[in-house]
Amino acid sequence: MSEEVTIIEPLAGPLCGTATVPGDKSISHRAVLFSAMAEGTSQLQGVLDSQDVRSSMGAVEALGAQVDLVEQPDGSLAGSVTGWGAAGPRQPEEPIDCGNSGTTARLLMGVLAPWPITVELTGDESLTKRPMRRITAPLMKMGVTFKPDGREHLPLQETGTDHLRALTYTMPMASAQLKTAILLAGVYANGTTSITEPAPSRNHTELMLPEYGVTTMAATGSASVKGPAVMKASDVVVPGDPSSAAFLASAAVLCPHSDITIENVSLNPARIGFVRTLERMGADIVEHRLTSEGKEPCGTIQVRGGARLRGCEVPSQHIASLVDEIPVLSLVAAHAQGITVFKDVSELKVKETDRVAAIIEGLSLLGVDAWEEGDDLCIEGQPQLEVPEGLVFDSHGDHRLAMTWALVGLTGSIPVAIKDFACVAVSYPHFLEAMKALA
Ligand code: S3P
Repeated sequence: MSEEVTIIEPLAGPLCGTATVPGDKSISHRAVLFSAMAEGTSQLQGVLDSQDVRSSMGAVEALGAQVDLVEQPDGSLAGSVTGWGAAGPRQPEEPIDCGNSGTTARLLMGVLAPWPITVELTGDESLTKRPMRRITAPLMKMGVTFKPDGREHLPLQETGTDHLRALTYTMPMASAQLKTAILLAGVYANGTTSITEPAPSRNHTELMLPEYGVTTMAATGSASVKGPAVMKASDVVVPGDPSSAAFLASAAVLCPHSDITIENVSLNPARIGFVRTLERMGADIVEHRLTSEGKEPCGTIQVRGGARLRGCEVPSQHIASLVDEIPVLSLVAAHAQGITVFKDVSELKVKETDRVAAIIEGLSLLGVDAWEEGDDLCIEGQPQLEVPEGLVFDSHGDHRLAMTWALVGLTGSIPVAIKDFACVAVSYPHFLEAMKALA
């Protein structure tokens, strides 16, 4: 991890005007991976150009898909992906490096499950510490082999099978990555593969698989696919990423007199829990549904700053709908009157870093009390919060923490320093430019 420190200067003023955000990261990964699995050539537009998505692109290329995605004037990637279809992926010569991307690693495990090749998956320092048995355990029930046997972390060698057994599985945690890995394997298994989850996680896979010709059933907290099926090429237009929009929205909430509109963003209810939470905190935020990209509802999010904020409780059933936004919502909660409680955030401890510990550490630099109570994260806000001088935040190499602590400097009146700010390239390479353009 880099020790380089970046100084973030205040924007000095309200945020105003319209903005767009880069393509949704989850949908971009799926568009690349599903197109690689499919027979024929898919046309993709609005794909996020970030390190994480490039990890998925590199992985499917190593497996024999042809990826012709080129940079567009707006910074997105567009073009075609020709998949391996019924012929299957080729045996790669080298291990596949998934970089920092948990989505690449975990979804690939499902992608590789139906093919009798042996692939070693690995990743960076953070990814090789993240739990993988949650994925390997159900895939092993379907007939896949992982070596070393029973190991929790990458690197792992996966050998798939063309005799996959369909699975009915009760997931121990609400995780879209786990759900997707099982469903993707299920596409090639004989029979119906079904999952149930303890709370609804993001549903992009269920919305997209039918577009690729897979018979898919979905309801709140459950999903199934009917196999075996050969996926067929599809065209995907990726809408803006609500998780990136959350940083612009939170910045506007924290800057009095701000008035911004974020356009062309996915308004999928499984992703905009942060809008509901900011609303409950008293923020002036509203979304307008205008259209849809495929089955994804899309539209604008309008935010006005300066409202009096109050703490609130976010129940465990809603955590998955804002799981990536808890760092930045914690910063908003630090400015609210009263206590905010995020219930049952144990999944946050196994993200790119232990985000619960990192949030508590960063808020304590601000002089804000934050603590764990069992699996809950509690924050006691200070409406008159004064940011001390000379703060140095550690991103711990985690893009969402880097952007969260950058907001302290951008929306305040005192510069702050951030260790390893460059990691924002994982999801939002032009984050700082986007913020400055609104100032
Ligand atoms: C993702 C699912 C979420 C999220 C991650 C992306 C996905 O993780 O945190 O950034 O694209 O499926 P879970 O697997 O915990 O839902």
